[in-house]
Formats: sequence, structure tokens, C-alpha cells
Amino acid sequence: MEKKKILFVCLGNICRSPAAEGVFKYKVNERGLEHAFEIDSAGTAGYHAGEPADKRMQQHALKRGFNLTSISRKFNPAVDFDRFDWIVAMDNENVSNLKRMARSPEDVAKICKMTDFKKIWNYSEIPDPYYGGDEGFELVLDLLEDACEGLLEKLS
Ligand code: 4NP
Repeated sequence: MEKKKILFVCLGNICRSPAAEGVFKYKVNERGLEHAFEIDSAGTAGYHAGEPADKRMQQHALKRGFNLTSISRKFNPAVDFDRFDWIVAMDNENVSNLKRMARSPEDVAKICKMTDFKKIWNYSEIPDPYYGGDEGFELVLDLLEDACEGLLEKLS
């Protein structure tokens, strides 16, 4: 069976999208579905390229059992639109930036938003936690755990 290829995208690829990647991978592994998915994350901006996830995000995630190991990289339209089937943005600004980079209607059709898959939490974006406190990181994880569950149901 062809693998489902999913790319999570935020601005810096050090807080929200590496957390989405970690939470989604955890849920996929929990169900023994590793063979069925290719999962990665990227940022629309490259200022943190080469860095691990933000220490605060890592610490909050680890408390819930999610080990964030990804290294930040910038989204590459020439490669990523072809390589992935689902390009899952964290907020409306990420969606606009991705749409601006799209080369075709087929590229645009791959772009969606994490909160499209929400089940319980009624948010329309995953808010950027970078300039805030602990509660922002906890909220990101609450929203991601919920939406990852919905995304996995949709794709399974
Ligand atoms: P992320 O968070 O997009 O969830 O990775 C941010 C990371 C860095 C910055 C902003 C948001 N920054 O301005 O450096």
C-alpha cells in the first residue's frame, strides 16, 4: 500500500509543527501503523533552520510522553509539494504563505489546517506559543493531541 505522506507546517518549525509531528508519530506508533505513514515538519521561515525544537516545547511535550527529535528546516515548495499528500498548516498565516508558494491548483489542494481535524477543542488555529508562557505550550499540546486524533481517524 502506498504510504500517506504528511507534512506539518508552522512559521519557525521549532514549536508547533515539530510538536504536531511528535504527537502524530506517537499516535501512529501506538496503533502499529508506522509502515503506513511518512511524517515530517517544516517552517515557512528559515530563521531557526538546523535547530532542534524549542526547549520549552520539548519539555512540555516530554511531560506527556512525546519526544520531539526533529531538526528545523524551511519548507521547500519545489520538493515538498511533490513529496507530500497532506500539507497541514498550524494557522491562517501559514496557510496564506503556503498558498502563495503553490505552483498549481494541485499544490493548493494539498494544503489544509490542523484545526480542520479537531474533535473536542473548538479553535480555528493553533496559536503561536513562542512569545508567551507555559500555558501557551500546554494549549498547543491540548489542541494538537485532539486534532491528531481526528487526522488519524480521517486517514485510517
Ligand atoms: P513556531 O513558533 O512557528 O510554532 O515554530 C515560532 C518560532 C519562532 C518564531 C516565531 C514563532 N520567531 O519569531 O523566531
